[in-house]
Amino acid sequence: MATEYLSTKEAAEKLGYSVQHTRLLIRQGKLKARKPARDWLVVGESVAQYQKRLDFPNKPDRNHPRRLSSVVNVATVPFRSPFRYPGGKTWLVPRIRQWLSSDNQPRKELIEPFAGGAIVGLSAVFEGLVERVTLGELDEDVASVWRAILYGEGEWLADQITAFEMTAANVQRVLARADESVRDRAFATIVRNRINRGGILAPGAGVVKKGENGKGLRSRWYPDTLRKRILNILKHKDRIDFVQKDALTLLEEKKDDTDVSWFIDPPYVVAGRRLYKYSEIDHDKLLALAGDLSGDFLITYDDSPQIEKLAETHGLAVCRVPMKNTHHQKKMELLIGPDLSWLAS
Ligand SMILES: C[S@@+](CC[C@H](N)C(=O)[O-])C[C@H]1O[C@@H](n2cnc3c(N)ncnc32)[C@H](O)[C@@H]1O
Repeated sequence: MATEYLSTKEAAEKLGYSVQHTRLLIRQGKLKARKPARDWLVVGESVAQYQKRLDFPNKPDRNHPRRLSSVVNVATVPFRSPFRYPGGKTWLVPRIRQWLSSDNQPRKELIEPFAGGAIVGLSAVFEGLVERVTLGELDEDVASVWRAILYGEGEWLADQITAFEMTAANVQRVLARADESVRDRAFATIVRNRINRGGILAPGAGVVKKGENGKGLRSRWYPDTLRKRILNILKHKDRIDFVQKDALTLLEEKKDDTDVSWFIDPPYVVAGRRLYKYSEIDHDKLLALAGDLSGDFLITYDDSPQIEKLAETHGLAVCRVPMKNTHHQKKMELLIGPDLSWLAS
């Protein structure tokens, strides 16, 4: 089979690194490449191999065969979402790579019906693990951000972010205009997501007072980074769709489509209420629907005995994986799927 080559830029995009860092990896011999002209030609297979190395080794825990022992280091995962999202799944991205590449060819479509900050959908599209992604989300504020970025207001949003000076008076002004249009609502949502404690957008969420190093409201306002993330999403927007819809309706509508893979990340069973405006889910119905899907799927849940039991009732495989929460405490979460044998690969 002919060797597939990538330009340095393409390799960098796949890995989520800068072109400079990718060149360094080539010089260090960590990526195989040759240089017939000015730019390097990077061996595609070596990029795929390196990507696997970024993932933490997947050692099953000897005492608990259905539990994986290693915690993913989130510093190895590029942040691609414009949100800082409570319950965000950045830590799961290495496992998602493992899952979506288990067929050795890109999946046709990934649907993420509880999209939130959509780190999984974005990573899958950016890294070429899927041809298309559909994001679904019920929250009107979160929806406004995806709509604005994907349907014509992404550059406007990026410009607003760059021009904005983070002061209490300016925040008030932006929030007061939130109802005027989708793009105003989107900008107000991005501002709230940055200034609210833990990025929480649910009604009643507190605003940071002191913030990091006493920087107050500005403590999480990184306009250049946010702008770049939005502009990067725009590069892939033709492969991303968004629908504002109840997740169970979306599942019902597309359940017979064999070309769809599903990443399903519902609100936590208990903590969901504090974190999201919409959090009431019929978990039994959701797991029953999942059991009926014709396509492949992966569900994540907090480690709840009630959910584990329900999943087993519906004939689904369950595994525990460790993660570190925002307070750096190790916690277990559940992965549920029709078959989780790819976890051992
Ligand atoms: C755990 S979060 C998803 C986090 C996401 N995976 C990430 O990494 O950013 C769950 C999301 O589901 C949304 N949600 C809650 N109920 C929903 C429903 N019935 N249909 C669609 N989305 C819903 C919440 O607004 C929240 O954004």
